[in-house]
Order: sequence, then structure tokens, then C-alpha cells
Amino acid sequence: MDNKIFVMDHPLIQHKLTFLRDKNTGTKEFRELVSEIATLMCYEATRDLPLMDVEIETPMCKATTKVIAGRKLAFVPILRAGLGMVDGMLQLVPSAKVGHIGLYRDHETHLPVEYYNKLPPDIEERDVIVLDPMLATGGSAIDAITIVKRSNPKSIKFLCIIAAPEGLKALSEAHPDVQIYCAAVDEKLNENCYILPGLGDAGDRIFGTK
Ligand code: PRP
Ligand code: URA
Repeated sequence: MDNKIFVMDHPLIQHKLTFLRDKNTGTKEFRELVSEIATLMCYEATRDLPLMDVEIETPMCKATTKVIAGRKLAFVPILRAGLGMVDGMLQLVPSAKVGHIGLYRDHETHLPVEYYNKLPPDIEERDVIVLDPMLATGGSAIDAITIVKRSNPKSIKFLCIIAAPEGLKALSEAHPDVQIYCAAVDEKLNENCYILPGLGDAGDRIFGTK
């Protein structure tokens, strides 16, 4: 299957993204915005969930209506920054299981280093959405998805807020079967592999560590 890249240009997402990027936005507001954007993106990323008919009775009469057809989801944030998206996703899908993959980018090489990995035991029965606000070189997303694939989930999507063109290309080539959702495709990476214009270091801004 060829990659599909969805850029979510909904006005509410774009509006919130502006305040997320602003360097004057403080930790509390930044965290809230990441969560709110994740909720809006979750709505769009779950648009293809299959439905089935059920029979109910309204106060007026019997009716045949729709419910989600028993698909189970798992959200897998890439630590740390992906954690900021989890609550927003769970607002819409509270029954989802949550796995965690710990990766950090080495400051010299910019390559991801794995330090934690705990996925739901029944992941084979689940559709997985991997979460990380930033797709820069793509190294972290590629490694996280490689780790998830070893557990054989039904499907994998990748959801980020800001993507660099370099990361989109690398991820599409490494995992052509994974659908990618983002809220913006930025201009480029700088010499330290940070996204321009971007929003800075997402993990540090969510957790107030800088
Ligand atoms: C950031 C970000 C991604 C990664 C993106 O994490 O949250 O995981 O960098 O960069 P890449 O596409 O070039 O791999 P970081 O390594 O800074 O760790 P943190 O979330 O713990 O701050
Ligand atoms: N990680 C971030 O948090 N920001 C970037 O711009 C690149 C990687």
C-alpha cells in the first residue's frame, strides 16, 4: 500500500497551532493546546472506523442506527513529547489501551536511542495510532513504528502536529503502509535537525524542562 499523508488544515487546528508555535506561550497553555489539537486530530484520524447497524428504540419508535463495529484501538505515544497528546486522544476514545515507547534523540548524532518499550499484550487485535507532536528527521517515528510492527498490530497510523518535509519523506519510504496525519508541513530542518519555523523542543515545552 502507498503512503497517504493527510494535512489537517481545519481552522480550529490552525488557530491553536499559531499559539502553540509562539515562544511567549507558557507551559500550562502549551500543554493544553497540545491536548486540544490531539483531540481535533483524533476526530479526523478515526474517520475511517467501520460502523455496523444496531436496533434500538427511541421514545418514538424502533430504529436501525450505527455504532462502531467493535474495532479496538491502541495509542502509542513516543516519550516524552507524545505523552502530551494522550489525554486529548482518550477524550474521544476512552476505551483505547495505551502503550509507551521511550526514545530520545542523541544530541550529537540526532539518531534515536531506545530506553523503554511497553505495549498492550493484545496489540495483535488492535489498530495502533503512534503519537508524537514532532516529525523532524523521521528517525524516532521510523524506529517506534518498527518496534510496534514486531508485535503485529492490525494497522498503524502515525499522528504528529508538525512535520518537516525531510521527515515525511523518510517515514514514507521506511513504512509505506503507514498513514501519516499532521497539522502542518513546515519549511525545513536547521543544522541541528530542529524544524523551522516549528515550535522549538516539544518535550521541553510540555514539561517545562527548559
Ligand atoms: C523529539 C520529538 C520526537 C523527535 C523528533 O523528541 O518529540 O520524538 O524529537 O525528531 P526526529 O524526527 O528527528 O527523530 P526528543 O528526542 O527531543 O525527546 P523528548 O520527547 O524526550 O524531549
Ligand atoms: N524535536 C522537537 O521537539 N522539535 C524539533 O523541532 C525537532 C525535534
